[in-house]
Amino acid sequence: MKKVLVVSFSQSGQLTQIVDNFLIPFQGVDIDKVTIDPTTPFPFPWDTKSFYDVMPETVLEEPIAINAPRFKHSTYDLIVFGYQPWYLSPSMPATAILKNEAFCARLKGTPIVTILGARNMWLNAQESVKLLIKNAGGNLVANVPLIDKTFNLISVITIVHWLGTGKKTKKWGIFPFPGVSKQDINESHLFGEKVMASLQAGDYEKLQNNILTLNKININTSILFIESRAKKLFRIWAKTIKKKGVNAKKRAFWLMIFRNYLYFALFIVSPIILTVYTLVFRPLTFGRIKRKKEYFRSVKLN
Ligand SMILES: Cc1cc2nc3c(=O)[nH]c(=O)nc-3n(C[C@H](O)[C@H](O)[C@H](O)COP(=O)(O)O)c2cc1C
Repeated sequence: MKKVLVVSFSQSGQLTQIVDNFLIPFQGVDIDKVTIDPTTPFPFPWDTKSFYDVMPETVLEEPIAINAPRFKHSTYDLIVFGYQPWYLSPSMPATAILKNEAFCARLKGTPIVTILGARNMWLNAQESVKLLIKNAGGNLVANVPLIDKTFNLISVITIVHWLGTGKKTKKWGIFPFPGVSKQDINESHLFGEKVMASLQAGDYEKLQNNILTLNKININTSILFIESRAKKLFRIWAKTIKKKGVNAKKRAFWLMIFRNYLYFALFIVSPIILTVYTLVFRPLTFGRIKRKKEYFRSVKLN
C-alpha cells in the first residue's frame, strides 16, 4: 500500500477543507495526517497588534517552536504539504516544520506536492518553500495554489473582516465572501485525481503540466508586478523593525509605522503605479511577463 504523509496547518479550517477535498481520490492509500502544532498558538481571530507583530520574524523566516511532529513512518511514497502565505512568506508554522529535522529527513528523496490556501499573493512564499524543500533534498513535483479571485483591494477588506472576526462571512452583508470560494474548495479533488494517478503510476514527470491543463491556476499580471517588488521592501521593513524595535514600546511604534505604510502602499501607491505600468510599460514587457508566469506556474526553481 502506498504511504502518503499529509502535513498542514490551518487557523480558520479553510486549508483543512481544501486538503480534505484534495485527498478524496486517495482511496486505498495509507494516509498519515500530521498537523503542525505551534508551542504557543497564534490568536484566531487576530487582534491588530498580534497580526502586525508576526511580520518581521515571518518575513525573515525565523522558525518558531513547534511540538514534535509524530510521523507513523520514516519514509513515504509522497508528501502533501499544505500551507498558507503570511506576509509574502511561508506562514510561521510552515517555516518551522520546513526547518524541522524529523520532517526534513522525510522530505529527502521524496516527491512532494505543495497545496496553498492564500488571499492572492503566494509567489514569493512558494519560492521560499521550493528552496527549503530543495535544501532538504526533497523533490517538488506539483504545486496547487488556491486563491481568493476577488479584485485585489476588495479582498484586502474582506480578509481583514474574516481574520479580525474569525467569521468567513460577507462584511456588512454586501462585500463578497472572503478567502477561497466554496466552489474552488469543493473542486480541489480534481487536483487530487491528477496527483493520485501519478502516485499509482510512480511517475511525476508530467504531473504539473497535467494539473495546469485543468486551467485553474492563473497568475494575475498586477499581482505578479506587486510581488516582484514588495518582498524586497518587506525584508527592509522587517530588518528595520527588528533593529529599531529594541523594546516593546519602540517595536510597537515601528509596527504602527509599517501598518500605515502598508495601507498607503496598497490603497494609494499601487493603484497609481499599476495604472501607469498597465498603460505604458506592460505592452513593452509582454514576453517577459509571459515567461515569468510560466515559471511561477511550474515547479522549477531558478
Ligand atoms: C498574518 C497573516 C498574513 C497574511 N499574508 C498573506 C499574504 O502575504 N498573501 C496572501 O495571499 N495571503 C496572506 N494571508 C492569508 C493567508 O494566506 C490565508 O489565506 C488565511 O489566513 C486563511 O488561512 P487558514 O487556512 O490558516 O485559516 C495572511 C494571513 C495572515 C494571518
